[in-house]
Amino acid sequence: MTQTSPTTSGARTFPTDFLFGSATAAYQIEGAAHEDGRTDSIWDAFTRVPGAVINADNGDVACDHYHRYPEDVQLMADLGLQTYRFSTSWSRVRPDGGPVNAAGLDFYSRLVDELLEKNILPWLTLYHWDLPQALEEKGGWANRDTAYRFAEYALDVHEALGDRVSNWTTLNEPWCASFLSYLGGEHAPGRQDESAALAAGHHLLLAHGLAVQGLREADPSLSLGITLNLTVPDPLDPTSAGDLDAVRRIDGQFNRFFLDPIFRGTYPQDFVTDVSEWNFEQYVQPGDLDIIATPIDVLGVNYYHGELVSVTPADVSMTTVAPSERPKRSPFPAADGVHWHLRDLPLTAMNWEVQPEGLTRLLKRVHDEYTGSAVELYVTENGAAYDDVVASDGLVHDEERSSFLEQHLDAILDVIDLGVPIGGYFYWSLMDNFEWAWGYDKRFGLVRVDYDTLERTPKDSARAYQRIIAARSL
Ligand code: FCB
Repeated sequence: MTQTSPTTSGARTFPTDFLFGSATAAYQIEGAAHEDGRTDSIWDAFTRVPGAVINADNGDVACDHYHRYPEDVQLMADLGLQTYRFSTSWSRVRPDGGPVNAAGLDFYSRLVDELLEKNILPWLTLYHWDLPQALEEKGGWANRDTAYRFAEYALDVHEALGDRVSNWTTLNEPWCASFLSYLGGEHAPGRQDESAALAAGHHLLLAHGLAVQGLREADPSLSLGITLNLTVPDPLDPTSAGDLDAVRRIDGQFNRFFLDPIFRGTYPQDFVTDVSEWNFEQYVQPGDLDIIATPIDVLGVNYYHGELVSVTPADVSMTTVAPSERPKRSPFPAADGVHWHLRDLPLTAMNWEVQPEGLTRLLKRVHDEYTGSAVELYVTENGAAYDDVVASDGLVHDEERSSFLEQHLDAILDVIDLGVPIGGYFYWSLMDNFEWAWGYDKRFGLVRVDYDTLERTPKDSARAYQRIIAARSL
């Protein structure tokens, strides 16, 4: 991979093989929740729990992408996207976790054909949080058996699409699928149980490893990977031993719990000690870590912001938890006494800090400590929600989003200049969609979706991205 190079005009250019893309996820956009044999996922069930989702919104219709995918692929082509990251719904492919549903698989087959016809590389994620509810009722991710069911489902999807899809991601953000979902209670299935969350974390990693082994055996030429959401924790006071320990704990429970087993075949010892009250190691059977550490080709990094932490309470209380009514709790099993602080940084509508330099540091660290030259790094999600306004001309002039996008692409060029190859970038998200516990309240899209008419309108940020992609420079 080449270094980036300033052009004579002073613009910064992307390497020739750098891929520009955008991302979505099945439950957030597809709708058609009860069509062609699909049955409930944990998100369908969770949206019916009173107070779980703002406005009691759900994914029954969402963006109706299931029916409008040709129009959406055309939008991608108009933007000049080279690749599109989407997820398949387990409940569509194997309703209730049972036998394969040909009609469900066929939707993805048509989508892939449409993408290929427009020269857009399909980047497929097998699990973006929508476990079949029937499997949750058997224990969900806290049940070890779910990992084996996932590996079977992965092979079913591969059997249908493997002739046309070469980039496979096992899981999206297993931290959210375990700690935020089984302990924090904010995401489906909304449990609040340390032991279940720790078991879920391990079983998700096991599911990843088993799927990688199965897919590799099915076709050694596939590009296989996982997407992790990673953070950059900084101490409020870098000279305070307490604050440094807060950083260590958050790093352990957010980043290293996933990175260490995948790339080193071990769980971090300090993490295991931090959570010793729940005897985490009871879930780890002989051989599991070898499976989890099965070599991969790609690590996808999702980055939204870092954190400033300390052991002293913040003056201004700081939270990014969705204000849904259902009670929630900290998703960290062992972060009592850790406090989050705001910096003097702009905030998005999610109350997330805009911190592009954190992305440079994160990618450098992941490369230096984990992936090296053996595993390709991609930014598989990055984006921002803003309170978009439709102007009198009918358009959305979202300068803040365009600037967010440019600053983060610039941060990627910075790390490439430091000698860290980055394969590509996927903006989250192609279009406004169902933002989990926030329902339709938060808009991350490059394309606006009018939820009454389902009409799509590219925002100014879409035009900005289109220009960057066309010029391959900032
Ligand atoms: C990520 C999720 C994605 C979306 C963005 C805003 O954590 O993977 O589905 O909700 O956040």
